[in-house]
Amino acid sequence: MQNNTSLIKVWDPLVRIFHWSLVLSFFLAYVTEEDFISIHTFAGYAVLVLLLIRIVWGFIGTRHARFTDFVYSAQNIKQFLKDTVKLKAKRYIGHNPAGGAMILMMIISLLAASVSGVALYGAEDQAGPLASWFSQGHSFWGDVLEEVHEFFANFSLLLVFIHVAGVIIESMIHKENLAKSMINGMKRSDNHNQ
Ligand code: HEM
Ligand code: HEM
Repeated sequence: MQNNTSLIKVWDPLVRIFHWSLVLSFFLAYVTEEDFISIHTFAGYAVLVLLLIRIVWGFIGTRHARFTDFVYSAQNIKQFLKDTVKLKAKRYIGHNPAGGAMILMMIISLLAASVSGVALYGAEDQAGPLASWFSQGHSFWGDVLEEVHEFFANFSLLLVFIHVAGVIIESMIHKENLAKSMINGMKRSDNHNQ
């Protein structure tokens, strides 16, 4: 009993640095949209670059960083959510099935927010790498892209709230501090599913 409470390394440095840099860049982009467009675009590009690096790492990274480690079937995700409601969810060493699904949704939504941001910057301000795609003063695309950009920015924020709620709930069920694990990379090795 005593030795199965040892700590093991779960999250590699890239995953941890990615995570907290993404949190910072996302919130910075979110709060600077109105008056600080140069900070906004800088933070938005940072979100995009971080996501691209993380996607590559999802194929070649360490064990629990790989998509194959945390993409589960719809059946598994449903069962996990049902067990969570009954406070009987199994403990996972890597991302749990619902967490994994949420991570994919956040990656897709944040990609849509940042790519539409780059396009909007091109259409509205004739600036950034996509400026040449839009003719001067093309307000149609500016309007469409503004709606798309705003939608995905706000949808990402909604996902983040659910994500953090999930982290808190799973931390309580298994009496562990998952946020701390995302800082130091370590988790308890005992009593887990995968
Ligand atoms: C802008 C806000 C946030 C975004 C976009 C975000 C996104 C993500 C992503 C993409 C992952 C997957 C990490 C990976 O495998 O590379 C993740 C995992 C995680 N995040 Fe966040 N996150 C945010 C805020 C937070 C906050 C505020 C906390 C702390 C309460 C947190 C705690 C965690 C934890 C603990 C995990 C690992 C989950 C697990 O144990 O399976 N996140 N997050
Ligand atoms: C995930 C990252 C991003 C988030 C969360 C985000 C969020 C937002 C939000 C909430 C708005 C206000 C929308 C509105 O009320 O109409 C906005 C506007 C805007 N964003 Fe982003 N954005 C991100 C990335 C980017 C990127 C990468 C660029 C360009 C390089 C960009 C360029 C713009 C521009 C040009 C506007 C319009 C500003 C204005 O006309 O006042 N965004 N963004």
